[in-house]
Amino acid sequence: MSTPGSTDGWVRVCRLVALGEDEPVHVDIGQCPVCLVRAGGALYALRDECTHQAVPLSEGEVAGGAIECWLHGSRFDLVTGRVLSPPATRPVTVYGVRTCGEDVFVHLGKGERDSVPG
Ligand code: FES
Repeated sequence: MSTPGSTDGWVRVCRLVALGEDEPVHVDIGQCPVCLVRAGGALYALRDECTHQAVPLSEGEVAGGAIECWLHGSRFDLVTGRVLSPPATRPVTVYGVRTCGEDVFVHLGKGERDSVPG
């Protein structure tokens, strides 16, 4: 098992304490906008761009394992990115996210996630 770090594709994005429950946070990894969510004892990372009209999902609401776009109300599954409510029809990309100590790491090429300790 590899240790998260920039050399194996895992990028440190923030401290775990920076993520409040059900409070989405925007980060950029290079040119890629990422929406981080801490919900129900787990972390999620999705592309921070609604597939309907490309507004930031991080400005939406988190509830019931989904994030809702603030503009027209599309809902996306936090685990799979699948569309749960229209008008969006295409899933949002999900990314790998894990913790190492008190730091949060995201991998743009992996879909695995990690539970939040404690
Ligand atoms: S822009 Fe997100 S649902 Fe329309």
